[in-house]
Amino acid sequence: MLFRNRFLLLLALAALLAFVSLSLQFFHLIPVSTAKNGVSSKSRKRIMPDPVTEPPVTDPVYEALLYCNIPSVAERSMEGHAPHHFKLVSVHVFIRHGDRYPLYVIPKTKRPEIDCTLVANRKPYHPKLEAFISHMSKGSGASFESPLNSLPLYPNHPLCEMGELTQTGVVQHLQNGQLLRDIYLKKHKLLPNDWSADQLYLETTGKSRTLQSGLALLYGFLPDFDWKKIYFRHQPSALFCSGSCYCPVRNQYLEKEQRRQYLLRLKNSQLEKTYGEMAKIVDVPTKQLRAANPIDSMLCHLCHNVSFPCTRNGCVDMEHFKVIKTHQIEDERERREKKLYLGYSLLGAHPILNQTIGRMQRATEGRKEELFALYSAHDVTLSPVLSALGLSEARFPRFAARLIFELWQDREKPNEHSVRILYNGVDVTFHTSFCQDHHKRSPKPMCPFENLVRFVKRDMFVALGGSSTNYYDACHREGF
Ligand SMILES: *[C@@H]1O[C@H](CO)[C@@H](O)[C@H](O)[C@H]1NC(C)=O
Ligand SMILES: *[C@@H]1O[C@H](CO)[C@@H](O)[C@H](O)[C@H]1NC(C)=O
Repeated sequence: MLFRNRFLLLLALAALLAFVSLSLQFFHLIPVSTAKNGVSSKSRKRIMPDPVTEPPVTDPVYEALLYCNIPSVAERSMEGHAPHHFKLVSVHVFIRHGDRYPLYVIPKTKRPEIDCTLVANRKPYHPKLEAFISHMSKGSGASFESPLNSLPLYPNHPLCEMGELTQTGVVQHLQNGQLLRDIYLKKHKLLPNDWSADQLYLETTGKSRTLQSGLALLYGFLPDFDWKKIYFRHQPSALFCSGSCYCPVRNQYLEKEQRRQYLLRLKNSQLEKTYGEMAKIVDVPTKQLRAANPIDSMLCHLCHNVSFPCTRNGCVDMEHFKVIKTHQIEDERERREKKLYLGYSLLGAHPILNQTIGRMQRATEGRKEELFALYSAHDVTLSPVLSALGLSEARFPRFAARLIFELWQDREKPNEHSVRILYNGVDVTFHTSFCQDHHKRSPKPMCPFENLVRFVKRDMFVALGGSSTNYYDACHREGF
């Protein structure tokens, strides 16, 4: 009896924790209008009613742990919620790859010992892990556009290679896929049981971690899928800009943004001191240490509970970590304020958003192709899309982050279509710049698809502040 009560208490606690963590995620998501000029910070409204006091002071370690996205109890998610007379038409999923090994090493230190082979009885567990490995070993090159067919289909090194997906990363996406399966397939019947190859659209960058993340999600979504019905396209650009990547004005925004970043760093004397101390510990010039982007490696130590590296001069420690992470958070804050990144994002995200609404438009016309689209991508893909949509207050994309566009049809008015936008399971539709005023103007419960179309075809360029009304002109504006 006592045992049972304690179990129930634990369960309740877990549910509470999951809820609190979700609420906290809401908390930092404050919409900013991109379409209008001169919007003061006063007119920003919080997603959740402000509970008595101001939001908690940003805690760098807490933020870092959210970024790790360590698999735990199933989270609450808002995907697939709509009034009963709405029918789900198509779903477009953008993911960041799951947990990976660092891309850089901290010079002259031993790199963290993390095992990238998949082992079913090692944490984090997933009931489908073993079946996933076995299914991947049956895959063939015919399912992948070159050069993807030369990549391994799952991580497999006893000491991870640089940037390799870890077991944590695979489990994160198996979970994502399973969650989407329960909602979109079991509940909303997005695809028929005998779905065909052309009902899926699958695209990934050419890194093993994005391909493997996409496969893990797909396996969670469609367990034991028929390999003959799978075709992953290769996307050479991290912006997913396909044939429309040339955009000089976008690059100018990026250069200015990088200059802003550099100046902010110079102003932070505590940060400089911290890099200096760390450089002394590992015995390299400060410049070399900084260039090795130590935060990336330190995050891996943190996410995997491996202590920070030591040398005979001392140890890299949590205080160093906090200073660098706090600076990152400060940098994101200034980035939103100065809006250079917004300019970059509007142009950078246009091609993929344009492609997505094209796919949605074909679905509204009753075509049955590409009803489920999956883009397996990077933080540098998701971040500009979020920013362009007016969700710049959303948290930086964590490992295995997911951004989803749902297209719905009103059964009572079959010509009317609506969209929902979800970020990590949170409904952010009414915080996007194309639907944040919707409730004031319209009694409809859902965001009209036309709003998104108008935004991508026109308002994105208006938001840039020039006189351009299309992508080509905006990319080639003189005298910017
Ligand atoms: C992290 O590692 C320490 C020992 O190195 C261990 O005591 C602790 O329980 C671990 N924490 C988690 C969350 O696994
Ligand atoms: C946007 O999509 C349409 C087709 O839906 C295409 O004709 C047009 O070239 C695209 N524009 C850009 C800039 O990608």
